Amino acid sequence: MITKKKYLFQLYLYLLLLLIYFKVQAKNVTITSKETTEDIVHIIENLSLSKDIDEIKLVFKDKIHKVSFEANNNFNFYKNITFYSIDGIIFDFQKHYSGQMTINVSEGTTMKKIVFENISFINFKNLYNTGVNMISFNISGENNNFQIEFKNCTFYNNIGNLLYFRYEGIKKESVQPHVILNDCKFTIFNTTFNNCYSYSEFLIHISSYYYYKYNKFSDTNNTFNLLIENSTFNVSGGEINVSITNSKFHNINGKTPTPLILDIIYSKIKIENCEFKNIKSILSSLFNEESIYSFRNVTFKDITVNSKSIIDILYNSITFDNCFFSNILCNGESEHSSLLTFTSSDYGNALKMNNVTIENSKSNGNLILIKGNMSNIELSNLNINKIYSYGSVINNLSLNVSK
Ligand SMILES: *[C@@H]1O[C@H](CO)[C@@H](O)[C@H](O)[C@H]1NC(C)=O
Ligand SMILES: *[C@@H]1O[C@H](CO)[C@@H](O)[C@H](O)[C@H]1NC(C)=O
Ligand SMILES: *[C@@H]1O[C@H](CO)[C@@H](O)[C@H](O)[C@H]1NC(C)=O
Ligand SMILES: *[C@@H]1O[C@H](CO)[C@@H](O)[C@H](O)[C@H]1NC(C)=O
Ligand SMILES: *[C@@H]1O[C@H](CO)[C@@H](O)[C@H](O)[C@H]1NC(C)=O
Ligand SMILES: *[C@@H]1O[C@H](CO)[C@@H](O)[C@H](O)[C@H]1NC(C)=O
Ligand SMILES: *[C@@H]1O[C@H](CO)[C@@H](O)[C@H](O)[C@H]1NC(C)=O
Ligand SMILES: *[C@@H]1O[C@H](CO)[C@@H](O)[C@H](O)[C@H]1NC(C)=O
Ligand SMILES: *[C@@H]1O[C@H](CO)[C@@H](O)[C@H](O)[C@H]1NC(C)=O
Ligand SMILES: *[C@@H]1O[C@H](CO)[C@@H](O)[C@H](O)[C@H]1NC(C)=O
Ligand SMILES: *[C@@H]1O[C@H](CO)[C@@H](O)[C@H](O)[C@H]1NC(C)=O
Ligand SMILES: *[C@@H]1O[C@H](CO)[C@@H](O)[C@H](O)[C@H]1NC(C)=O
Repeated sequence: MITKKKYLFQLYLYLLLLLIYFKVQAKNVTITSKETTEDIVHIIENLSLSKDIDEIKLVFKDKIHKVSFEANNNFNFYKNITFYSIDGIIFDFQKHYSGQMTINVSEGTTMKKIVFENISFINFKNLYNTGVNMISFNISGENNNFQIEFKNCTFYNNIGNLLYFRYEGIKKESVQPHVILNDCKFTIFNTTFNNCYSYSEFLIHISSYYYYKYNKFSDTNNTFNLLIENSTFNVSGGEINVSITNSKFHNINGKTPTPLILDIIYSKIKIENCEFKNIKSILSSLFNEESIYSFRNVTFKDITVNSKSIIDILYNSITFDNCFFSNILCNGESEHSSLLTFTSSDYGNALKMNNVTIENSKSNGNLILIKGNMSNIELSNLNINKIYSYGSVINNLSLNVSK
């Protein structure tokens, strides 16, 4: 009798310890194909309300999760949440858009992280509905400090906006990115940008409603940081600091009137160790003209643009370091047929090219056209070989030039 009591007491102590142990632990939830998306949403909402749980880990055991489109797949991001699977799970949106997910990030979400790891997102299909995205992050307030991370995820066979980040303002002064796309592959299988819906169709869309709220652009510390590493993708949006490293942009064909590769406005864009290869654009340049660019160790190869300059920069500065251009065909009419058109503003903008090689290329106009009122030009170690240009190789029409 006594031993039994003692045993029970020990068991009680053990359970208590276990409870205390779990109190500070992540809650692991195993998800199998029995759980619907709605169940998962309920699990997240339920566990988020529990005071005993700090972190939610959803462990997917099966190979495929069919994303349901009867229910609202929306939840709040209050605690650290991880979606992962050891062998890789497929989130199948079943060729429909109604499985769209919205994740609310409310004001004051600090030191929180949501991670998607080893997940393939497939078969999202949205042709007509604007404002419908595969996964939207609805970020309220300005006092947030959170991270959204996609690790080793793949997006394929999708049509429409995949990731949408709607934010109000980010006051965080840390250099840590808010969104990390690490080793993700965005493959748009058999989807090109050349249909009439394409100009509302971006893979990643970032939009700030700060402007609409305060009627001014935010200061430079109030920006959304996006870090894309080792990924393949297309981005659009405005007022963000973008850093793209170790990424490849291959085999992109487009007829969009908007910039083909990055349509990001009023932003600082740093592109390093990247390769742009086999790209054809009928109507547009590759990048939005109203951002500041810095390219370092970037290769541009086999690129054809039919009616605009490959890179067109207006009232902003641009730097190229250790860049290599080869087989660039500028097929537009002479005044829209340059590898680079740089237009400075009255206040001055800089064009810097250091250790840049341009070879085996053709242009119907000036290969490099420099215009505007105050161009600060710094060219060093610029090698230009085998160019067929109907205009000048470099034509500088700037009014004031400081070299
Ligand atoms: C949850 O899963 C992770 C990864 O498999 C493991 O390291 C951790 O110990 C688990 N936690 C609990 C409370 O089971
Ligand atoms: C939510 O939590 C309550 C109480 O802990 C539980 O009874 C309920 O079954 C949970 N619901 C889900 C969907 O997990
Ligand atoms: C997300 O936030 C909005 C407004 O703050 C709210 O209307 C909506 O119900 C929230 N979504 C969820 C899933 O709680
Ligand atoms: C992702 O998949 C790889 C290979 O299957 C595995 O090594 C890794 O541990 C997985 N990640 C997680 C978080 O399970
Ligand atoms: C990424 O996930 C896939 C399965 O989805 C796995 O095969 C691969 O090994 C993973 N890679 C890493 C680096 O975890
Ligand atoms: C949540 O994740 C963040 C970022 O990784 C970390 O700093 C924080 O300690 C985590 N919180 C909990 C309760 O685990
Ligand atoms: C997103 O947040 C805004 C502002 O808080 C809210 O009005 C809107 O309903 C939210 N959207 C969703 C889908 O929860
Ligand atoms: C992709 O397009 C090619 C050429 O049109 C076609 O042969 C192939 O079957 C398509 N694949 C899928 C999965 O639709
Ligand atoms: C941005 O933050 C830095 C460091 O806190 C500060 O020195 C700088 O003045 C801020 N810039 C603006 C425009 O507020
Ligand atoms: C990206 O790839 C490079 C080269 O393979 C590797 O050194 C780097 O660690 C990767 N980045 C991350 C965040 O995994
Ligand atoms: C330059 O970028 C390429 C990828 O395009 C990479 O393989 C190489 O290591 C980079 N070189 C340096 C010096 O970082
Ligand atoms: C010049 O740029 C090329 C890439 O185009 C690179 O391979 C080379 O190392 C660079 N040279 C110097 C001196 O940085």
